[in-house]
Order: sequence, then C-alpha cells, then structure tokens
Amino acid sequence: MPVKTIIEPFRIKSVEPIRWTTRQERQRLLEAAHYNMFLLPAADVLIDLLTDSGTGAMSTRQWAAIMEGDESYAGSRSFDHFRDSIQEIFGFRHVIPTHQGRAAERILFGVACKHGGVVPNNTHFDTTRANVEFAGAEAVDLLIPEGRQPALPHPFKGNMDVEALDSLIERVGRERVPLVMLTVTNNSGGGQPVSMENVRQASAVCKRHGIPLYFDACRFAENAWFIKTREEGYADKTPKEIAQEMFGYGDGCTMSAKKDGMANIGGFLCTNDDRLAQQEKDLLILTEGYPTYGGLAGRDLEAIAVGVQEALEEDYLRYRIASIAYLGNHIAAAGVPIVLPPGGHAIYLDARAFLPHIPCHQFPGAALAAELYLEGGVRSVEIGTLMFAAAAQMDLVRLAIPRRVYTQSHIDYLVEVILDVWEKRKQIGGMRLTYEAPFLRHFTAHLEPVKGADA
Ligand code: F0G
Repeated sequence: MPVKTIIEPFRIKSVEPIRWTTRQERQRLLEAAHYNMFLLPAADVLIDLLTDSGTGAMSTRQWAAIMEGDESYAGSRSFDHFRDSIQEIFGFRHVIPTHQGRAAERILFGVACKHGGVVPNNTHFDTTRANVEFAGAEAVDLLIPEGRQPALPHPFKGNMDVEALDSLIERVGRERVPLVMLTVTNNSGGGQPVSMENVRQASAVCKRHGIPLYFDACRFAENAWFIKTREEGYADKTPKEIAQEMFGYGDGCTMSAKKDGMANIGGFLCTNDDRLAQQEKDLLILTEGYPTYGGLAGRDLEAIAVGVQEALEEDYLRYRIASIAYLGNHIAAAGVPIVLPPGGHAIYLDARAFLPHIPCHQFPGAALAAELYLEGGVRSVEIGTLMFAAAAQMDLVRLAIPRRVYTQSHIDYLVEVILDVWEKRKQIGGMRLTYEAPFLRHFTAHLEPVKGADA
C-alpha cells in the first residue's frame, strides 16, 4: 500500500476561536508588553507556542471521565483509577499525586537530599535544578557532548554521559549522591530522547554504587516513540511496552501530567522505597493535600488516568512526532538554523546563528521571538541570555507545540511566518533591558529595541 499523508488522528468536537490582529496592532501590543512574550495577553496571540505544558486539548473520553470524578477527601474512587492506570505503565509501588511536576520535585528532593548532596541528571529542567538547590544540594548536568551542539544530528542527543556519571560518583563518594535522574525527553537540550541502551547503562552504574535511579518522566511517551523508531530491536514493541521496560530500570519518577499526562494540571511522584514514600506522604499532607488527592480535584485524577494511556497510542504519537518534524525539516531545508534533529515537543531556533549580527548581550533570542510575534502573531519563548544571563550556553527560541491543538494548516502557516522572518533577518536589531527582577528575570523583564548609535 502506498504511504499516505499522516493526518491528525481525531476530529474536532469543540472549537476555540483564535484572533487575528493587524501588524500595527501587534506593534502596539509588543510595546505595551515591553517586548516580553510573557507579558502579552494570550487573547492577542494567534498561535501560542509558549509552552506544551497544560495547554493540550483533552479527549471526549477524558471529558467523560471528568464527570465520574469522585471528590471525596479520603479514599476517593478516582484515586484508585489514577493509581491503577499509572502503575500499569510506570510499575512503581507508590504513586503520590501532586498539583504539578515541580511539587513532586520539591517533595522528592526535600526528603531525599541533604546539604552537600550531589544530584546528577542528563540536564536538569530549571524547576528541577532550583528544587535540588533549594534542598541544599548541587545539581550536575552530565549530557553527552553531542547534545550541546545544535546543528549536529544524533538519534539520542538526550543521553547521559555514563562514564562521567561513574567518575563523578567515584570522586564525590556514593553517600553524597542520594539519587541519579534521567530527564525523558531532555527539554532543556532540545526535546531530545534518551535511548534504552543509555537507560540500561545508567541503571547499571547506579546499581553498582547502590544509588536509586529516578526519571523526570514528563515526556515519557514521546521518548518511547523515538526508541521505537530509532533504536534497534524496538520496532515491533508498543510504546507502552517500551515505557514499561524503561521504568523497570528505575526506582521512581517525578512527573508533570501537563505534558504526556494530556491534562491541563497535575503531576505525581512514584517510588519503590516504602520508607521514603511514607516521608513523602507526610510532607504531602503538610503542603499539597491528603495522599489520595495531593492538591488535585478528583476529576483531575480521572483526566490524568485516561491521559497517560492516550499519550501512548501509536496513531497519536506518529502524528505528533511527524507534525513537529515537518515543521523543523521544512524550515531547516530553507537554511534556518535549528537544533537538529527536531525534538519531541518543540522546535528550537538557534538565534545566535539566525541573527549573527546581534551580540549575546543584545538578546538575539528575545529579538527573534519579538519578530515572530510581529510578523505572524506567533508566541514563542527565549531560552538563552535573557533567561540564564551569563550562564547561557546557547541562545535558543523554543516553539513548543501543544498536544492535539493545532492542525497541519497551522503548521504550514508557522513555516511561512518563520521563512518570512528568515528573509528579513538582516533588518532585525538587538534589544536592551530596561527593567529586571532580582531572580527569574525573564518572566517579568522589560526590553526595548536598541536604536541608532547604540546598535
Ligand atoms: N521537568 C521538565 C523536563 C519540564 O519540562 C517541566 C516543565 C517540569 C519538570 C516542571 O513541571 O511545570 O508541571 O511544574 N516544563 C514546562 C515547559 C513549564 O514549558 O517546558 P511543572
């Protein structure tokens, strides 16, 4: 049978209008938002690619499950559905609900980390790093060197450098390492996957030193699809079988259900360690809620119970990964510099290579994000000098694709907008900060274009 176009594996039952604005309006809106994408009203954005977190569309089955939500404080039936669904995929003994991923991180590191501890990860996401540091420990990123070169294609650019892991543990001593973490897929490094072989090797290093291995599992289903399509021996396995095998090498996980949980809010923490689970539940009661709801409504638990299963459906994953690859490959073919290969949830534009005439201290990523909005009403996010200041190793602009929200024609429109901006790249100028908060400045910073003699 000839290969046919990969289509959205759903039809649309409820629509949400999006609003066109004129270029003049967008110019005015940009100025009012001080050129900061976080300060734009969402209603004035045509295609919103700020994040794939909590922005997905739920299915009819999820909405039906929501009506079944049991809002009992303790022993809710919805918790049983939630736990059973998660255990079937993740396999861990204890499942602890939280209001989102960072709450699971805070509880895990709060209980497992001591002052002076060291937590290795392929790459910590920013909330993960902040929670490790808040617990008094050091967060160490041990990505393979290929993962730090945007233009270099590699099938598993999210892999951990397992030799570096081994020597780090030898150097600092195993008693200082409470756990090792693998982020699947690696969001901060371009949404790149981790291979099963790498999971197996990391797990072997951990076992040899007697250290538990945890997953930051936010995009576990997308990672499973990359293993199925790129790693030898997995083509005939289902994404669920792949996820089950992967989690089988670990001792627990943190999860934001706002990503591959297909929900608008929620998360969870899993562990096989009975003693740790008890301490985590005690802390949960203090700040999140009773262990059968953990800061969520019963209906949220139901939506997640259905969502984690739907995220693993083959038709869905085939469409999701193909749609993002289509966007990345089309713009890359025209010369636009992106992180290669295309990631699982987003395309990352390399702003330093896109705008080589703008020095880093004039925020090439923020300038590019502003131009994408001006050109086509597209909202993206800068991950670079504005976000990390001098610590930024790259200046990227992330176009994160919400799950099941935009169709192929939206993606074609995005290609057109990006290529129009690419054509005009030489006319794009740098930006200057006019206000910054003492920490996490990118959320509230004010910027303005650099003009005249300063440029
Ligand atoms: N870990 C990873 C890899 C993430 O990408 C995120 C969130 C979290 C943990 C925290 O989860 O938001 O539910 O508390 N990433 C979002 C993003 C915010 O836009 O990439 P959360």
